[in-house]
Amino acid sequence: MFRYKDLCQDNVKRFETPFNENFVEVHLTDVSVSPTGDRTWSPVHCILPKRYKHFAERIRNLTIYEDDVWIVTFPKAGTTWAQEMLWLIDHDLDYEKASSVNLQERSVFLEVFAFVTNIDLPDTIALVENMPRPRHIKTHLSLALLPKDLWIVKPKVVYVARNPKDVTISFMHHYKYMHGFKGSQQDFLDGILMDQLIYCPQVRHATEFWRVAKLHHVLFLHFEDMKRSMADVLEKVCKFFGKSFTAEELAHLENHLSFDVMKENKAANNQQLVESTTEAMGIPPHNHKFMRNGQVGTYQRELQREYLDKLDEFIAKQLGGTDFKYGI
Ligand code: A3P
Repeated sequence: MFRYKDLCQDNVKRFETPFNENFVEVHLTDVSVSPTGDRTWSPVHCILPKRYKHFAERIRNLTIYEDDVWIVTFPKAGTTWAQEMLWLIDHDLDYEKASSVNLQERSVFLEVFAFVTNIDLPDTIALVENMPRPRHIKTHLSLALLPKDLWIVKPKVVYVARNPKDVTISFMHHYKYMHGFKGSQQDFLDGILMDQLIYCPQVRHATEFWRVAKLHHVLFLHFEDMKRSMADVLEKVCKFFGKSFTAEELAHLENHLSFDVMKENKAANNQQLVESTTEAMGIPPHNHKFMRNGQVGTYQRELQREYLDKLDEFIAKQLGGTDFKYGI
């Protein structure tokens, strides 16, 4: 069902972290179930630690329920933000439970157990299998690696895309402070431009999903729209879920999801995760916050012109031949 292609060992050594190592390209070879029913589908690969081999088929064959909610993103695209929004909307704004049960438990990260080598984690695939319904499931896996029954049972699938230049900056901090990456900024940026980091290729992660965006059970969102007008996004998401809330309830939700409020919300700000990972990985003390700044366009002051130009070229090249556009 899958083929695993080794990467150039120099790149593996240059771009891996203690958190996830031994990267390989994972290719889906069995295309008998295609998301759009298109028999000519040629799936995009995904870079993951070799350890994923032991779990790939289990994930591809996972039992899917109609009331599942799947949140799919490339890392740092606003996953946590969307998870909190979707969970609350699907649970009729149950703030009590949202504050007493951590988001990581309400919305489980499917494959994390399959690639983390240095931290003792529960079997997150089993957690998903045994979650109370409706299950909320977070994943960064590319389209081809997702359970095939998503396209047969058709539960709600929400994809969030974010401008790769902001993702790059956010991911760079995440790689350093949460994955213990010891390389230089240049190493990291080269990894982005060479599409050799975990979950790459980055742009094709989004463009491949864009091809299924019109399916009735798929909702495609942009981080930048959530930032510019959360009210419009909430309207869209409520419609997708068949939910209706008063203007006051929606205003309260918008405030709950704002960066400043979410940053202080221990049940959803992932700070606990930063602290436990830092300790477990032996990463030197730091002040990194998962909720870093949550803005659009900070790459302009964090990246040198040389890399901005290279990234622009890289993105334009990858988007060639598609009608997909990132949010601005
Ligand atoms: P920055 O590092 O640019 O601040 P993910 O959840 O996919 O890992 O994405 C994390 C990014 O989403 C971080 O971006 C984080 O600050 C941002 N984010 C999380 N919650 C947010 C919110 N309520 N408003 C704006 N940005 C948010």
